[in-house]
Amino acid sequence: MKVLTVVGARPQFIKTVPMTAALEAAGCRQVIVHTGQHYDYRLSQIFFDELGIPEPDVNLGVGSGKHGVQTAGMLVGLEEVIQQYHPDWVLLHGDTNSTVAGVLAATKLHVLVAHIEAGLRSFNRKMPEEINRIVVDAISDVLFAPTEEAVHNLEHEGVNGERVYLVGDIMYDAALMHSRRAEQSSGILKRLKVEKGGFILATVHRAENTDDPRRLSVIFDGLRQVAETIPVVLPLHPRTRSVLERLDILDTIERELAVIEPVGYIDMIMLEKSAAVVATDSGGVQKEAFFHKVPCVTLRDETEWVELLDMGWNRICPHSSADDVADTIISAIGIQGRPGKPYGEGRACDKIVTALLERKIST
Ligand code: UD1
Ligand code: UDP
Repeated sequence: MKVLTVVGARPQFIKTVPMTAALEAAGCRQVIVHTGQHYDYRLSQIFFDELGIPEPDVNLGVGSGKHGVQTAGMLVGLEEVIQQYHPDWVLLHGDTNSTVAGVLAATKLHVLVAHIEAGLRSFNRKMPEEINRIVVDAISDVLFAPTEEAVHNLEHEGVNGERVYLVGDIMYDAALMHSRRAEQSSGILKRLKVEKGGFILATVHRAENTDDPRRLSVIFDGLRQVAETIPVVLPLHPRTRSVLERLDILDTIERELAVIEPVGYIDMIMLEKSAAVVATDSGGVQKEAFFHKVPCVTLRDETEWVELLDMGWNRICPHSSADDVADTIISAIGIQGRPGKPYGEGRACDKIVTALLERKIST
């Protein structure tokens, strides 16, 4: 069986690690196509170098741009590549512009498409990711849902039966694969001179925060208040860096917070495991905080990972004022949620490969 995997953004490289292992174990051939959505070393190549992901067979080099320009560039490139490689399946991850370009290109060429991380919904159509999810789930052939909630969301949209598989979350597979290595080999705590439990880890990159100066100021004023009590480590996404620069607040933030370049996955796991609280607008980082049993504050108005709210591991941060942001983060220190396994047992990738092989035989 030949699978063509489309990747383009940081979390998709990380998800490719356990998927590649499962595909190789089952004797499948994988063609990796990198759209070029992320291209800085620390957002892209670092993951290939550090995690042993095979180098992409093709890099479309599309780069950054408005949604239309970026997605259209990917679509043109993917159409060519899919015709060149004739895969049995096109495999798509998550909800980025690379994902939506992949589904449009493949389905129109009548190639089977499998969507991993299907069924997630924020019910906020202002998010570009929500539009991408709805489109990708509507036209993919097979939907691999990470959670029961995701399956319910699909049912509510009238999607069920043979198209939907509840497999668990492949990011849990990835976290289990690398957790011990992070403990053994990451030197990040020493480099930053922070101790286990002695800092807050923050990440901010979502458009709904970076593209709204008021919201962004409230978040960063809140983080600065937190930093008066406990150090705040901030691996800064280039998108957020350039907005902070434009707003002329980057220097202040760099003085008061431990601002660092984006880190590799191994250092990131170590930071997540060691933080007193994780404060983030990232989808992946919310779940990873839970995998490592660290309380999380979500810097958004809603989350797709609602089970973590129910279990008490995560809370939504009010954005009304910097005081609210700071209070929510500080008061999360020491809180532990209820135990549970909403993301499966770390075998999601094996289940996905088994389903792909079965479906291929039956078509
Ligand atoms: C994208 C995804 C988002 C995902 C995130 C993962 C979409 C619509 N958004 O957001 O869902 O959570 O990836 O990290 O697909 N930039 C660089 N260097 C790079 C890449 C980007 O400087 O290597 C800067 C550019 O100024 C670019 C901006 O970041 O315009 C945004 O990049 P883009 O890939 O469009 O969106 P992300 O915010 O990274
Ligand atoms: N990540 C990383 N280095 C960083 C920030 C994040 O390796 O400096 C990892 C993180 O551990 C998670 C993934 O990137 O696995 C999440 O990506 P991101 O927050 O960019 O996107 P999202 O999950 O919100 O789509």
